Formats: sequence, C-alpha cells, structure tokens
Amino acid sequence: MFAKTLLLSTLAATAAAQTYNTTFATGLLQFLNNNGFTSLADAINTSIDSPGTINLLNNVNGTSKTLLAPTNSAFNGLAANATSNSTLLGDRLSYHLLAGSFPASSFATSPSHTIARTYFNDPSLVNLEGNKTQAVAFSIDGGATRVLNQNTVVTITNTTSYQNLLIQVVDAVIDTPGDLAAAFDTYNLTALLTVLNQLNFTEALLAARGITVFAPTDQALANAASALQGANETQIATVVANHVINGTTVYSPVLGQGSYTSAGGQGFSFSSNSSGTWVTSGSATARVVQADVIVKNGVVHIIDSVLFNNNTNPAAASSAYSAYTSTAGQNAQQTGAVGGPTPTETGPIGGNNNNNAAISIRMVDQSAVLSAVAVVAGVLSGAALLI
Ligand SMILES: *[C@@H]1O[C@H](CO)[C@@H](O)[C@H](O)[C@H]1NC(C)=O
Ligand SMILES: *[C@@H]1O[C@H](CO)[C@@H](O)[C@H](O)[C@H]1NC(C)=O
Ligand SMILES: *[C@@H]1O[C@H](CO)[C@@H](O)[C@H](O)[C@H]1NC(C)=O
Ligand SMILES: *[C@@H]1O[C@H](CO)[C@@H](O)[C@H](O)[C@H]1NC(C)=O
Ligand SMILES: *[C@@H]1O[C@H](CO)[C@@H](O)[C@H](O)[C@H]1NC(C)=O
Ligand SMILES: *[C@@H]1O[C@H](CO)[C@@H](O)[C@H](O)[C@H]1NC(C)=O
Ligand SMILES: *[C@@H]1O[C@H](CO)[C@@H](O)[C@H](O)[C@H]1NC(C)=O
Ligand SMILES: *[C@@H]1O[C@H](CO)[C@@H](O)[C@H](O)[C@H]1NC(C)=O
Ligand SMILES: *[C@@H]1O[C@H](CO)[C@@H](O)[C@H](O)[C@H]1NC(C)=O
Ligand SMILES: *[C@@H]1O[C@H](CO)[C@@H](O)[C@H](O)[C@H]1NC(C)=O
Ligand SMILES: *[C@@H]1O[C@H](CO)[C@@H](O)[C@H](O)[C@H]1NC(C)=O
Ligand SMILES: *[C@@H]1O[C@H](CO)[C@@H](O)[C@H](O)[C@H]1NC(C)=O
Repeated sequence: MFAKTLLLSTLAATAAAQTYNTTFATGLLQFLNNNGFTSLADAINTSIDSPGTINLLNNVNGTSKTLLAPTNSAFNGLAANATSNSTLLGDRLSYHLLAGSFPASSFATSPSHTIARTYFNDPSLVNLEGNKTQAVAFSIDGGATRVLNQNTVVTITNTTSYQNLLIQVVDAVIDTPGDLAAAFDTYNLTALLTVLNQLNFTEALLAARGITVFAPTDQALANAASALQGANETQIATVVANHVINGTTVYSPVLGQGSYTSAGGQGFSFSSNSSGTWVTSGSATARVVQADVIVKNGVVHIIDSVLFNNNTNPAAASSAYSAYTSTAGQNAQQTGAVGGPTPTETGPIGGNNNNNAAISIRMVDQSAVLSAVAVVAGVLSGAALLI
C-alpha cells in the first residue's frame, strides 16, 4: 500500500490534468485490494496517468456514484492486448463509473431497459451531442441484472459499497461501444448497410454527432422489395432519412416522452405495451425488436419492418436539427458540467431482449435480401442512367 500511496502523491504533483482527491483514490485502491478486486486495482494503478483513469479518479469521489467492479476472473478472461495500451484501458475503466446510484431496485425488467450515463468521454471514441459522455444499458432478465450490448452475457453478481460509491460487481470487463457500421455488422443488418452505402449515406451517419437510427432487419428490407421497386432514387433516400433522428440520441426509456422529427422532416409516434414498443412514421408502423444498441455517436433501435414513408419536409428537418444541436436543446438534456452526465433515463418503454447472446436477428432467406438490395441498386443505377 505504501508504494501506491507514494505513487499517487507523486502524480498529484506532476500530472497537470489531474485534480482528484488522492486521499480518496488511495483509500479506494486499498478497499479494492482488501476486498478481492486486486486486478481492478492493478488496472487503475497501471493506467493511472491515462486521461480515462484520471477522469475516473477526478469524478469518483463526491456525490453518489456507481462503480461497476469486474472480478479478478473477469480480468483473467481478457485478451492480453486489452490491458497493454494504457490509454484504451483508462478509457474502458471510465466506462465503469456511472453517474448516480444504481442499486438493484433501480434496474428495469426486460423488455424495458435502464440507461445510465458513464464518465467515458474520450472524443476519439465517443461522439455524442453536446459532448455528452457515453451511456450504458441494463436490464433484468431471468432474475439477473445484465449489462447489455456485450459480446457475452454479462451479469451483476454482487453489491458492496465504499463511501459515496455503490459498487456493483460484474463478471466481465465491460466493452465500450463501437461505431454504427460495426453494430450493423454485429446485428446482421447487412441489407441496410448495403443500401446505406448505395445511397452514399453511411459517411453522414458515421460522422453525425448524436444520432438515433431505426434500423430495419434484413428480413424487413426483403419484405419491402416490391415497394422499393416502385420507388425512385429520391424516394428511397427519403424513406431511409425517415429512419434517422439527426442530432440527438434517444434511448428507449424516453422514446415516447418527446416529440422527434426525422432527417426527412417527418414526425415519429410511439406506442408500447407489455409485449413491446412500436414506432410509426406516416402510415407505416414497425415493432422495435431490439432497443438501445449503443454506438459511438448515438443509438440504434432495430425494427421488424421498413418505415415506408416517402414524404419529405426539408424545412422541418433543418429546424429539428437546429433545435437538437442548439445550446438550449442540449442543456435541456444535460445537467452538470459540459461533457458531464445527464440524469438517469429509465422507464417503461423498451425493446425486447438484452444481449447479443440472447437475441437472434437472422436472415431466413438470403436470396430475398440479395434481391431487395439488387432492387435498390437497380433503381439507383436506373436513375443515374437517366441523368
Ligand atoms: C502501482 O504501479 C507501480 C508501477 O507503476 C508499482 O511500482 C506499484 O507497486 C503499484 N502499486 C500497487 C499497490 O500495486
Ligand atoms: C473530489 O475531490 C477533489 C478534491 O480533492 C475536489 O476538487 C473534487 O471536486 C471532488 N469531486 C467531486 C465530484 O466532488
Ligand atoms: C478527500 O477524500 C477524503 C477521503 O474520502 C475526504 O475525507 C476529504 O474530505 C476529501 N477532500 C476533499 C477536498 O474533497
Ligand atoms: C486485440 O487483438 C484482437 C485480435 O487480434 C483485435 O481484434 C483487437 O482489436 C485487439 N484489441 C486491442 C485493444 O488492440
Ligand atoms: C493506444 O491506443 C490509442 C488509441 O487507439 C493510440 O492512439 C495509441 O497510439 C496507442 N498507444 C500505444 C502505445 O500503442
Ligand atoms: C465539445 O468539445 C470540443 C473539444 O473537444 C469543443 O471544441 C466543443 O466546443 C465542445 N462542444 C460543446 C457543445 O461543449
Ligand atoms: C458478496 O460481497 C460480500 C461483501 O460485500 C461478501 O461477503 C460475499 O462473499 C460476496 N459474495 C459473493 C458470492 O461473492
Ligand atoms: C455515390 O457516390 C458515387 C461516387 O461519388 C457516385 O458515383 C454515385 O452516383 C453516388 N450514388 C448516389 C446514390 O448518390
Ligand atoms: C444532419 O444535418 C446536418 C445539417 O443539415 C447535415 O450536414 C448532416 O449531413 C445530417 N446528417 C444526417 C445523418 O442526416
Ligand atoms: C409515396 O407516397 C405516396 C403517398 O404518400 C404514395 O401514393 C406512393 O405510393 C408512395 N410511393 C411509393 C413508391 O411507395
Ligand atoms: C421521384 O418520384 C416522385 C413522385 O412520383 C417525383 O415527384 C420525383 O420527381 C421523382 N424524382 C426523380 C429524381 O425521378
Ligand atoms: C447473425 O446471424 C448469424 C448467422 O445466422 C447468427 O449465428 C447470429 O446469432 C446472428 N447475430 C445476431 C445478433 O442475431
């Protein structure tokens, strides 16, 4: 313990970015070491001069927080390269600190989700509106609280506390969100990705700062093949834009609580009951089959049919974007310091299912998907030939 105290005190004098309470940090590391979380304590110690870990330590004291504490065996399960880059390790550790207290009673039961704001805010890996910090999703399923969007089933296994910190023990080191294209890949949304590429819309989606995407499954796009066949390029682009809220990230618990306008200038409406949540655009309604796939710059809600609304209102789209990205619009959704956390979002609305291991968004008929994609390609190249 002496070596660690010395190290923290030395850093207190040298690391410009750190303003943390070294007494608190030393006490926390001692607590972790004394309670069997030696790998977590080591990870904090070895990355102590990284921006992510400094950010964690700057915020860990003070008001009520929740620390997701991976067990030693969780760290043993990591690939060797997962801890070798201290910048990435620190970023990942900062994703384990939640703003606010999240006791067992705070988590929603599947299909509803609880969304917590973390302290993960490396601008190269998080690109949310108003520089918000990244969020993490939870849901109780089969009596166990899961951390969603992980490569394996991740569960909260025990609870303890240290001063202002509620410590929720997890059986894996939590993965940070990847980008939209990676999420489409993970969830088998291959037809959508192909269509987005064909429309040259992927870049804009990846570049957005805060985005909500209602993403049709492969089966949904295959089912829409004949409607797509009857549309021209402009209409297809409009239909796709009507699946996107540009400039703000709307997680499932608050979907029904606000008024949202698509990048095509169309309003959305939502409804839900105990068996699920539905989203409507124009006269088209789809069921949310997987909510809250959290990505670097927003969130994806996977839906079971295409929202075939070909109406467009560029003025409404533009004014919605301005409202979402204005200081006032962002402040309305954010408390605390810039880049800091927003209040917890938890509520009755949620998609089904919880994690990659438990869900299955499979394409049953690949040839139907290929033909839907070919239809779009045909429409687009036909349109191009007319020019
Ligand atoms: C913390 O890491 C330093 C090396 O950076 C090491 O000398 C020290 O022993 C470590 N402290 C503990 C308690 O593991
Ligand atoms: C943590 O403690 C430091 C002083 O060591 C203080 O400046 C900082 O405001 C505290 N953080 C919180 C979130 O209270
Ligand atoms: C730093 O943390 C210690 C231990 O938790 C606490 O007693 C002290 O008041 C904190 N100092 C500040 C300035 O927050
Ligand atoms: C670790 O290695 C794996 C396999 O080569 C790679 O997919 C992953 O991106 C690497 N992770 C880091 C943090 O470098
Ligand atoms: C650690 O990862 C970051 C982000 O990918 C990268 O910029 C940096 O060069 C890496 N550092 C080392 C020592 O590999
Ligand atoms: C977000 O952070 C960047 C620097 O990383 C800064 O230039 C920009 O003003 C910040 N935006 C907001 C809304 O705080
Ligand atoms: C849960 O944590 C308590 C300390 O808070 C400890 O006594 C108990 O052994 C832990 N249980 C398991 C299954 O790890
Ligand atoms: C996409 O970009 C390519 C290359 O710039 C261009 O040839 C193609 O026509 C564009 N497609 C659409 C639908 O805008
Ligand atoms: C969001 O709106 C901005 C401003 O109109 C535009 O530049 C950007 O391409 C839009 N992004 C998407 C994904 O619609
Ligand atoms: C576009 O929308 C109009 C009415 O909103 C509808 O009559 C028309 O069939 C739609 N076009 C396609 C290709 O679905
Ligand atoms: C696409 O179809 C709509 C509705 O028929 C029409 O108003 C529009 O001009 C067409 N656009 C192109 C580029 O053909
Ligand atoms: C993606 O499809 C593959 C092959 O059908 C399947 O094994 C996997 O579970 C699917 N992934 C998801 C997230 O549904």
